[in-house]
Amino acid sequence: MNDLTKQNILKNREYLKAYTAADVALEPTDQQQKLPFPLPEKEPCGGAVIQLPADFEHMAGTKSLYELIAGRESCREYAPEPVTLQDLSFLLWATQGVRRFAGRYNQVTFRNVPSAGSRHAFETYLFVQSVEGLEPGIYHYLASKHELEVWEKRSDFTEDLEKALGGQSFAAKAPVVFVWSAVPYRMEWRYGMKSHKYMMIDAGHVCENLYLACEAVGCGTCAVGAYDQELLDELLGFAPGPSAEKDYECAVYAAPVGKRTK
Ligand SMILES: Cc1cc2nc3c(=O)[nH]c(=O)nc-3n(C[C@H](O)[C@H](O)[C@H](O)COP(=O)(O)O)c2cc1C
Repeated sequence: MNDLTKQNILKNREYLKAYTAADVALEPTDQQQKLPFPLPEKEPCGGAVIQLPADFEHMAGTKSLYELIAGRESCREYAPEPVTLQDLSFLLWATQGVRRFAGRYNQVTFRNVPSAGSRHAFETYLFVQSVEGLEPGIYHYLASKHELEVWEKRSDFTEDLEKALGGQSFAAKAPVVFVWSAVPYRMEWRYGMKSHKYMMIDAGHVCENLYLACEAVGCGTCAVGAYDQELLDELLGFAPGPSAEKDYECAVYAAPVGKRTK
C-alpha cells in the first residue's frame, strides 16, 4: 500500500465516526443558519408520466417474514420473462415509496425506509429493458406521486450500461436495473459533514428492502457497488462533479432485478 493510499484510508476512517465535540464547533449547518430547505424530491424533468398501480395489499404473498429473510440472497441470473408493472411498482414503493408528508410546506417525506432526519437524499432511476407495459428506456421515479417519468427515451443503452456497471454483464442485461443517486445537499443542509455517513447507511436500508420485496414477488436482485462513477453519472446526464451546487447529484448504488429462474 503506498503512502497516498494509507493517508486516504486514514482520512476515510474518520468518515465512519459520529459527531465529535470538535465537529460541532465547526458547524453551524445550513439548517441552523435558517437557509431555505431543499425540496424532498427532484422536480419532474418534463418527460411523459406513467401512473403506477398502487394497490399492494393483495400482494402480501404467501411467504412469512422469516421466509423472506431466510431466502434472501444475491441473484445474478434472471428468467427471460419480463417483470410485471405491478411487481416493479411494488419494488419502487418498498424502496422509496412515500407514506406521508410533514412540515409546513410538505417539505419532509416519511417513506417505507428510514432515513436520518427523514432527509431521504436519494432519487431512483430505472434502466428498463423488459417490463410488461413499459417501453424500454430510462425512467425516473417520482416518489411523492408514485409515478414514473421518462428520463430518456433511448433503449440502446445495454452496452454503455455494461461498461458503467464495471463490465458486470449479468447486471446490465437484467430486465430492469435500479440506480440510486444521491442529492447530497438534502442531507448536508441538516447534518453538514456527517451527512455522507448517514447517506451511506440509508442506502443500505433501501437496497435491503429491494432484496426482501423481490423475494416476496418471485424476483431476484443483487446489490452493485462496483460501478464506474464517471460512466454511470454520464449515462444519467449528471454534471461531472464534485461541485458545491445544491442540486449536485451522483450515482451511489445500483441493483439489477429480474424474475427468478427457480
Ligand atoms: C455494498 C455492496 C456492494 C456490492 N457490489 C456488488 C457488485 O458490484 N457485484 C456483485 O456481483 N455483487 C455485489 N454485491 C453483492 C455481494 O457480493 C453479496 O451480498 C455477498 O457476496 C453475499 O452474498 P448474499 O447477498 O447472497 O448473501 C454487493 C453487496 C453490497 C452490500
